[in-house]
This record gives sequence, C-alpha cells and structure tokens, in this order.
Amino acid sequence: MNLGVFSYCIDARKLPLPIDWKGLFNREAELVVELGFGNGEFLIELAKRDPSRNYIGFETSLTSIVKIQKKIHYGGLNNVLVFMVDGHFGLREFFEDNSVQEIYINFPCPWPKKAHAERRFTNQAFVTTVAAVLKKGGVFHLTSDVEWYVHDMASLMEESGCFGETSILTNDRIVLGTRYERKWLSQGKVSYTLNAVKTDHRTVERWTWGETTVPHVHVKDVDRQKLLGLKEQVFKHERGVFVVKDVYTSENEYLLRIVSNESNFQQRYFISVEKKPGGWLVKLDPDAFAYRTFIVKFSVKKVAEVIST
Ligand SMILES: C[S@@+](CC[C@H](N)C(=O)[O-])C[C@H]1O[C@@H](n2cnc3c(N)ncnc32)[C@H](O)[C@@H]1O
Repeated sequence: MNLGVFSYCIDARKLPLPIDWKGLFNREAELVVELGFGNGEFLIELAKRDPSRNYIGFETSLTSIVKIQKKIHYGGLNNVLVFMVDGHFGLREFFEDNSVQEIYINFPCPWPKKAHAERRFTNQAFVTTVAAVLKKGGVFHLTSDVEWYVHDMASLMEESGCFGETSILTNDRIVLGTRYERKWLSQGKVSYTLNAVKTDHRTVERWTWGETTVPHVHVKDVDRQKLLGLKEQVFKHERGVFVVKDVYTSENEYLLRIVSNESNFQQRYFISVEKKPGGWLVKLDPDAFAYRTFIVKFSVKKVAEVIST
C-alpha cells in the first residue's frame, strides 16, 4: 500500500458489507480488532510486533482517528486500517461469522449511570456479536479499572455458553502503554483483564448485508407545505426512531437533515427530494450517506409517504 497520511480511515458506508478484508488489505491474514483505541498506542504496538496479521480499529472520536493515522503513516505500517463508527456496529456488520482471531477493548467508558447503561459494551447483543465473528479458538480481551464492568462482561459471556477458559487477571497487562492505563495506574488503581476463548458458535442478524441499492421512492407530486412542516417532526417505529432536524430548500430540490437512532446506533444523513421529469424523487442523499439500516430505509419511505399528494 502506498497511501497518504489520512488514507487509513475507511468510510464503509459506500462499501458492500461484509467487508472484503483481503481486497482492502491486499492480502489474506489473520484479523485482530480493537474497539475504542483512543490514542492508538496499543493497536500500533500490536501491529508492529506482529506484521503478519491485519489490524482493524474502531473509534467514535475524530481526534483519535486523526492521531492514529499519523502513527500508522509515519510508522510505515501497512497492516492497520481504522473506521470512525460505533465498535459494536462495525464488529457485527463488517465481519463474517468465524472471521476474527482476536478482539480487544481497553479501558472502555463504563457509563456508570443507569440512564446511560445502553451505551456499555456489556450487553447480551454485544456478546452474541463477539460469539458470531470470532473464529473458534479466537480470544476476546477486555481490560478495565472498573471491576464490576469486567465481571458483568464475564457473566454475560459465561451465560451465553459460547466461551470457555474465561479468566479475570489483576494487573495482567500493565504494558498496554495506553493513555488511560497510565492515568489509572498513576492514581494507584488496579486493572482487571478478562480473557475468554470462543468455544461455540452463534450467529447474529446483520442490519445492512445485501443492501446494494440506494433507498429511493418516486412520487407524482409533493405537498410543499407538508414538506416544510416536517421540520422537528419525530417518527417512531418499533425498530428505532428518526427526527427531521431541518428542511433546506432551493428551486427544484429540498434537503432534509435527519438524525436516526436504532438500538443506540445514531446516524446523521440527508434525504433529498428532487424534481424530475414527470414527478419527484425522494432518496438518501449520496453526499451525506448513511449505513442502509432498517430505520434509514424506513425514513426515506416515510418522508415520501407524508409529502406525496
Ligand atoms: C476511556 S477511552 C480509552 C482509550 C484507549 N483504549 C486507552 O486505553 O487509552 C475510551 C475510548 O473509546 C471510544 N469509544 C467510546 N464508545 C465507543 C464505541 N461505541 N465504539 C468505538 N469507540 C468508542 C472513545 O472515543 C474513547 O476514545
């Protein structure tokens, strides 16, 4: 690979899913994944230590994405790629069953308040995703200074019946070298590391696989008042919710700014409503794309339904 400094972050919204990792890395190799890599020290160190494997990182912070790309580029690494997307979503949607060798999470935000519990990785759906994408014999590693968080994850993994050789070690990996490890250790905190080996397989429903077309609806005519009135309207479905944040107009086109949420996975995108010969086209705008999940497709259909006359 001969890439520029900011070419290691891949936008998977326009790629067919699951991702063709061999095509993307230009070679077949074992896959190792880190969720929430922060400053990226750990992932970079792993990639340097074992260049025979391919490393994939997920982050939601743009600052982290920028920082790690500099490290990848100036470190001369050709075996690391990163994605700016929720780690659970990426793990479930980008990987086939039985395809990942190891998964790491280091010092995740514990979201201690009950109101934020949905944001934790410690839930059954996440554990099922791990049980789906790991190869048999593949290993899941979680390190945290928050003891209950690590125990919660261990219990969920045991209950799933898909993992064995589960152990929780204290101060096992003080050599991670990550920012948060340094922070907690300097405060005298202990770190707990859960290691669990996949023994049995589960599969998981993917939200986006097989979607190759851009969601769109043709309508004969639109009611402009109803269209403008969409601003700040909230549409609910049992699978999630979307809100029309703004409606922008020009002569023959309207742009609707949308925020959607399904199982705590948030997306921001635009739906365009464009005059065409013989009618109007309502579609997911290609300039501000989204993963074509259920709610994204629902939002295009719903908007078309509401505004058509
Ligand atoms: C406490 S920091 C730990 C960073 C790093 N692992 C370390 O040990 O220094 C947690 C990181 O996870 C990222 N993060 C939070 N939720 C995430 C999610 N759902 N998917 C991917 N990354 C996430 C945050 O942006 C943040 O950088």
